[in-house]
Amino acid sequence: MHGESDDSRLVGAVADREDDAVEAALRPKSLAEFIGQHRVREQLDLVLKAARQREATADHILLSGAPGLGKTTLAMIVASEMAAPIRITSGPAIQHAGDLAAILSSLQEGEVLFLDEIHRMSRPAEEMLYMAMEDFRVDVIVGKGPGATAIPLELPPFTLVGATTRAGLLPPPLRDRFGFTAHMDFYESGDLEQVVHRSAGLLDVAVDPAGAAEIAGRSRGTPRIANRLLRRVRDYAQVRADGAVTSDIAAKALDVYEVDARGLDRLDRAVLSALLKLFGGGPVGLGTLSVAVGEERETVEEVAEPFLVREGLLARTPRGRIATPAAWTHLGLVPPQAQANGVQQAMFDE
Ligand SMILES: Nc1ncnc2c1ncn2[C@@H]1O[C@H](COP(=O)(O)OP(=O)(O)OP(=O)(O)O)[C@@H](O)[C@H]1O
Ligand SMILES: [Mg+2]
Repeated sequence: MHGESDDSRLVGAVADREDDAVEAALRPKSLAEFIGQHRVREQLDLVLKAARQREATADHILLSGAPGLGKTTLAMIVASEMAAPIRITSGPAIQHAGDLAAILSSLQEGEVLFLDEIHRMSRPAEEMLYMAMEDFRVDVIVGKGPGATAIPLELPPFTLVGATTRAGLLPPPLRDRFGFTAHMDFYESGDLEQVVHRSAGLLDVAVDPAGAAEIAGRSRGTPRIANRLLRRVRDYAQVRADGAVTSDIAAKALDVYEVDARGLDRLDRAVLSALLKLFGGGPVGLGTLSVAVGEERETVEEVAEPFLVREGLLARTPRGRIATPAAWTHLGLVPPQAQANGVQQAMFDE
C-alpha cells in the first residue's frame, strides 16, 4: 500500500470525517466529566473558579498537546464553566489582520474566543492579537499608503483559548501572553478505559471491564482513537455476536482491523518486522528500511516511527534505525543477544 497518511488509518490520531460527525456527541461538557489529565484539570479548575469569584473574565489559556487528546473539548468546557458564549475560529482561517479585527471587534464582554491551530496564523494577524490580548485594543488601519491612519478600537474583555499541536512553533511573545498553559499528555490506560465506558454508555453499547481494557490498550494513549476503535468493535459485536463487548470480542474485532494488542497497525508492524527480520534489528538507514517496506521515506518517518519511538520499540540513532529488545519480544522473536546466549548455553549443556 502506498501513500498511507496518518488520517487514513484506524489508529491515526487526526480526526477523520466520521470522527467529526460523532465527536460532538461524545464530548464531556464539564470539567467534572472530563476524564484523566488530573494536573491540567486541577489547574484549570483553579483558574476558572478564581475568575468566577472575582466576577472577572478568565486569563487567556493555551492548550497544547497531540491530536485527539481533548483540546477542543477543554476549550468548550472553559466556555461552559464560565457560562460564557464561545466563538470558534482557527489559525488557517485568519489570513489577514482584517479577518481577526472583524472577529475581535464583534466579541461580547466575557466571551471565549477559541483559536484552534493558533500556530498557523499569519504574522500580521499575530501582531494584532498581541495587542488585543494585552490591552484589549486593536488598531484598525483606515486607508492605504502614506495617508493610512490607525484608529484605536477598545475591545470588551474576553478570554482567548488557543490550541496547538506544536507549542514549539509559537513565537515567544505570543506564548508569554497566555496567563495559563495546559500541557496535555497521552492518557494512562486506566483513564482510557473510563473513556471507553463513558462513550459506550452514550452509544448504548454493553462493554464489560475486560472489553474496555482491551480497547484502551490498543488506543495509543488517545481518547479519539479509543472512541474510534470502540465504534469498530461495536460493529463486530453486532454482526458476529450478540452485541455485547467482551475482551474476546474486542480482541477479535481489532485483529480483523490489524490493530494489535499494543496499538500497532499493519504499517507499524511491517516497519518493525523488516527492521528485525531483514536487518537483524539494525542499525539500518531510513532509505533502505523504507524500500524494504515498500513505502515512501516520509511515510515511514512521519507516520510509523513516532509511535514506535514513543513505545520504546525503535530508536533513531546517527548510524540508523535500531530495534530495542522490546521490539523483538513484541513480534515474538528472539533478540540476537539472547540467541547468542542460548547458543553458548547449549554449548555448556553438552
Ligand atoms: N478527557 C476526556 N474525556 C473523555 N473524552 C475525551 C477526553 N478528551 C478527549 N475526549 C474525546 O476525544 C475526542 C477528541 O477530542 P478533541 O476533539 O477535544 O481533541 P483535540 O485535542 O482537539 O484534537 P485535534 O488536535 O485533532 O483538534 C472527543 O470526541 C472527545 O469525546
Ligand atoms: Mg481540536
